Amino acid sequence: MKKNWLDEKIKRFSSIGGYVKPELISDSIKLDSNENYVISKQLQNDIINTAKKNSDVREYPLGGVEQLIESLSKFLKVPSNMIGVGNGSDQILDLILSNFASKSTKVLTSNPTFGFFEERCKLYSIPMIRIPFSDDMKLDLNQFLKESKKADILYLDSPNNPTGFQFTKTDILKLVKSFDGLIIIDEAYGEFSDYSLSKLVKNYPNLVVVRTVSKSFGLAGLRLGYFVANKDFADAFMKVIQYPYPLSTITIQSGISALEKPEIMLDSVNVIKSERKRIIETLKKYDAFDVFDSKANFVLFDAHGSYKRVFTALSEQGISIRKLGKIGNHEGCLRVSIGTKEMNSKFLLAIRDFLG
Ligand SMILES: Cc1ncc(COP(=O)(O)O)c(C=O)c1O
Repeated sequence: MKKNWLDEKIKRFSSIGGYVKPELISDSIKLDSNENYVISKQLQNDIINTAKKNSDVREYPLGGVEQLIESLSKFLKVPSNMIGVGNGSDQILDLILSNFASKSTKVLTSNPTFGFFEERCKLYSIPMIRIPFSDDMKLDLNQFLKESKKADILYLDSPNNPTGFQFTKTDILKLVKSFDGLIIIDEAYGEFSDYSLSKLVKNYPNLVVVRTVSKSFGLAGLRLGYFVANKDFADAFMKVIQYPYPLSTITIQSGISALEKPEIMLDSVNVIKSERKRIIETLKKYDAFDVFDSKANFVLFDAHGSYKRVFTALSEQGISIRKLGKIGNHEGCLRVSIGTKEMNSKFLLAIRDFLG
């Protein structure tokens, strides 16, 4: 009897499948995970060296998270009692879902939305209301406003992964104002976009803005995410829900050090935004593709029936992008991250050769 219970559980987990990570191809030009290679390795070396000096890993990082939150508070210009941290924004999203949502709370989101978030909803059997993207990869505000009455939680990745779409600030505010449940705005790509809602949290006690150093700071391997929320939410999250020591000492100290150099991050964001424009404009010249505008550090395009061949041709040249396939009426979607100028040029040359 006991064993049946365990078998059933394991069977259920196996049937969900989980988040599919990109394939590990050694020495490839990695444009598959929306990482930031414009940030030089020098920043990494500097912050890790500083972190090493400031760390004693024989000890638990007592007081470390609080110190990091003070740095985030200065960086964001938001009071520290409205900030929380996590082991990547993945962990923050996971803890919010596992503690605030259940089988009887409905999550309103887009289709597609951030894959990990969707997988976690499946894992916890949280029902989703999913609003599809239009053929030009945009979302309809009115559909969200209509469905919002049936939902308890609103989750929007803003900009959206994988489409790169972001509502205008006016539109998103209409939605935020009208929604009385928990609102999670995931700004993992916020720095590459037109606006952030992090300063507006003080006006909306039900709003949580989740962010990360993985993308704009190019520090995905640190696994450092944070959020801005009303102080009661932040307090409950950090004191009760979050683990006592969610971040390693090295992560905490590296994060503090990186936040002292925001200009390096901002410079890389500017390069990525201008490279994004170049990639979009170049890809748009090919009739073989439908290319969608993006507010993030990646671009989505539909290569129709030839998407698998495009993916393979790039792989053969050592270039790794993300193969997504069908999104709505678009059969052959591929997502390419914006890399350094050289990486992007290699990608565009390989595309030109393929279409040649
Ligand atoms: C929309 C979105 N949110 C969150 C994350 C996760 O970020 P982190 O590295 O902070 O866990 C990603 C990563 O790809 C993402 O695309």
